[in-house]
Amino acid sequence: MRTDTPKTVYLQDYKPYPFKVTAIDLNFDIRDEQTTVTAITKFSRKDPKASQIFLNGEDLELVSIALNGEPLEKFTQDERGITFKPPAGDEEFTLETVTVIKPAENTRLEGLYRSGDTYCTQCEAEGFRRITFFPDRPDVLTVFDVRVEADEKDCPVLLSNGNKISDGKLEGGRHFTVWHDPFPKPCYLFALVAGKLTHIHDTFTTKSGRKVDLYIYVRPGDEGQCAHAMESLKKSMKWDEDVYGLEYDLDLFNIVAVSDFNMGAMENKSLNIFNTALVLAHPDTATDLDFMRVESVVAHEYFHNWSGNRVTCRDWFQLSLKEGLTVFRDQEFSADMHSPDVQRIDDVTHLRRFQFPEDAGPLAHPVRPDNYIEINNFYTMTIYEKGAEVIRMLRTIIGPENYRKGTDLYFSRFDGQAVTCDDFINCMEEVSGQDLSQFQLWYSQAGTPEVTTTGKYDGLEKTFTLTLSQNIPDTPGQTDKKPMHIPVALGLLDPSGQEFPLDEERNTTKILHLREKTQTFVFEKIQYPPIASILRGFSAPVILKDDLRDDLKPEDHAFLMRHDPNGFNRWQAGQTYMLHILDEMLDQGEEIPEECFRAYGALLDDALRPESDKALLARMIHIPDVIHIGLQREEIDPAAIYQARDDLINGLLSAHKDKILAIYGMHNDDDGDSVTAQAVGARALKNTALHILTNKCMKEDVDLCREAYKNARNMTDRIAALQRLTLFRTGSCMDVLREFYERYRDYPLVIDKWFAVQASAAREDTAAIVRQLREHPDFSLKNPNRVRSLFAAFAMNNPVCFHAPDGQGYEILRDAVAELNTINPQIAARLLTPLKEWRRYTPDRQALMKSALKKILEIENLSPDVYEIASKSVAD
Ligand code: PHE
Ligand code: ZN
Repeated sequence: MRTDTPKTVYLQDYKPYPFKVTAIDLNFDIRDEQTTVTAITKFSRKDPKASQIFLNGEDLELVSIALNGEPLEKFTQDERGITFKPPAGDEEFTLETVTVIKPAENTRLEGLYRSGDTYCTQCEAEGFRRITFFPDRPDVLTVFDVRVEADEKDCPVLLSNGNKISDGKLEGGRHFTVWHDPFPKPCYLFALVAGKLTHIHDTFTTKSGRKVDLYIYVRPGDEGQCAHAMESLKKSMKWDEDVYGLEYDLDLFNIVAVSDFNMGAMENKSLNIFNTALVLAHPDTATDLDFMRVESVVAHEYFHNWSGNRVTCRDWFQLSLKEGLTVFRDQEFSADMHSPDVQRIDDVTHLRRFQFPEDAGPLAHPVRPDNYIEINNFYTMTIYEKGAEVIRMLRTIIGPENYRKGTDLYFSRFDGQAVTCDDFINCMEEVSGQDLSQFQLWYSQAGTPEVTTTGKYDGLEKTFTLTLSQNIPDTPGQTDKKPMHIPVALGLLDPSGQEFPLDEERNTTKILHLREKTQTFVFEKIQYPPIASILRGFSAPVILKDDLRDDLKPEDHAFLMRHDPNGFNRWQAGQTYMLHILDEMLDQGEEIPEECFRAYGALLDDALRPESDKALLARMIHIPDVIHIGLQREEIDPAAIYQARDDLINGLLSAHKDKILAIYGMHNDDDGDSVTAQAVGARALKNTALHILTNKCMKEDVDLCREAYKNARNMTDRIAALQRLTLFRTGSCMDVLREFYERYRDYPLVIDKWFAVQASAAREDTAAIVRQLREHPDFSLKNPNRVRSLFAAFAMNNPVCFHAPDGQGYEILRDAVAELNTINPQIAARLLTPLKEWRRYTPDRQALMKSALKKILEIENLSPDVYEIASKSVAD
């Protein structure tokens, strides 16, 4: 057990760094046993009174240190870094340090480490201090010159940021390259790669005529899986020019894929480093969802070149300045590349599933947090996804034209600087002339606002009155919150499904600005009692309360699900309706109402029409999954939810088997490996149908899925069938599982799927299987993707087994966290996510989850990462 409490960092303690770093010259001498880093750093004074200078440095072996060419005698060193006295006066001074690091032993995957045979770096947020002594904070920007030297046979490729200035051969089979990055940057954007890699190459010509060389580097043998990432990169470059007027600024852009990576990818200046999972994509080995994710992450990292790199964050409390904005940019990019409605549905589903619970749990924090123990723990759904929602609302409130003026101003005014979220908002205020001070509460108040709606129709006056009220729930350390500025997009439908015009321009969607605790909006000339379509396109990240009382009845949702012209709200109405039915089944033991069979049948008819939007309909006929249903329950009992959901699916299946079978059959012979929007939509629909069709787990279902597996011509279909077979787990199913393993044993990303599929199966014996898989020769705690494929898949995608009343699931997770705590604390802390929500479960489960957390707090040498999550989770 930790006896000390790790230190908390506070926003209010921010102080500018008293020195300027004018340049850094780095030399990396890479050898098998160790890497020697020589850093020549030039400083000048900013604060005439500063008497000490502090440089971060952790787990470094200091070989020598010299100030202005003289060995430095007087300095202090602790586990955080070194402090010394700078020369008096304004003269520039130079520090030269030589340090030794051991990349091969670095299992944290922060700083310089080895992934397979490849050396690579990860410096965000605080990894650079594991490479050399330096002020490791985002507001210290400098120009980097980097020389990399290594064995030519082992490391033919040597890369760093910026432009390659020179290269050459050395004695003893060694060689080197030299890099210069003209753009000053904080050290978290530094990167280096050395290894045996192949590449694909392409070019992009920017709108002002700059020809940019694009490279994607991968492990030899993987080059056939890079084309999609390259196409995605070119599309992103074009989109950022078209939509934001932002152009790429160097002649070279590199992406390198590595198999061991804590996160998805990293936006290092001109040398993005990616998890292989987010680069490699081929229809044989990657699903349609993987293709979408590759495209959006390639775009995300590329977009950071402006939103993050050219304009960066003053301190890590401002993380959402770059992340929220960049997520919003990549979401809009994906929407433009595919279907805006479907994109919005998927983004909102993701937000509700991961961010809402975070915002309601013990680690709730504002989009701009004001304290943290370990910054790695703050790469959260709130910073990323809620942060993106905040930018989206801003655009809704000031309008797209002002928004674009605002980003133009932001990027030109702050180019080359490290700034704050306030700076961004101020630009938006300036260009729009609107007062956004109330809006800024979105950055400082945590918790998901609840919005209650009541509508009243006056048949004599022909008016419709809508009352909206808001409530911001208390969160740890924050109570009695102020009302926020919430944009609520609204439409009103008449009984025939026509929309009422809501203003002089006859617009049918109106933005209501909810700013008070309670506010009333009156609509005139409404000839019939309207059905309100509220929060169109999910115009604000809020929870709509009382959805099914007063103004909106279940039938209204069934109506909106058929008639709302807003695609997102059509989907939402269907989901709300089904969730309502599931609630009734769970709480009152109700039967499935007739209306539900009818409404669902109508959806299926829609799906059967050749011209319908298959991707949207796949999402509409999908029955909300167990986790989703749980989110809106007072107290979560996954087993009971599973049962009710199962009953609903079986009921709908019995009523509509022919239609579902027809939907399945209608797309069963499409063009195998094409990834056009049409083909992707059709596959989504077909596989949703397969899932429903085989819900009763009968002999014929096994046959159908084996057939589907056998006929699969792409990974999307293959894995969809395998998921079902893994659930059935009969002898013949197990043969298929083995066949899958043999077929893909040389494709680690597919073997990840093999682990995940088994860990996610809702079966009685899954906990035991997860324990067995932990001992599988292909399992390794050192590879984050593999850890996620087993433990995160089990704990996050398999609520029934993870929350089994015997507590096995929690024990498995606890043991994994205990082992990972020293190997990779960042991943260990992330694995704890599902335990944070213990208060939401039945009392028996609560007790077990809490005791698992307490046991974790007793682990010896507990990392600050795990300590922060576990201790805050159990705090009252
Ligand atoms: N900055 C990266 C992104 O969002 C995420 C990341 C954070 C990667 C920390 C690695 C480490 O694009
Ligand atoms: Zn990012």
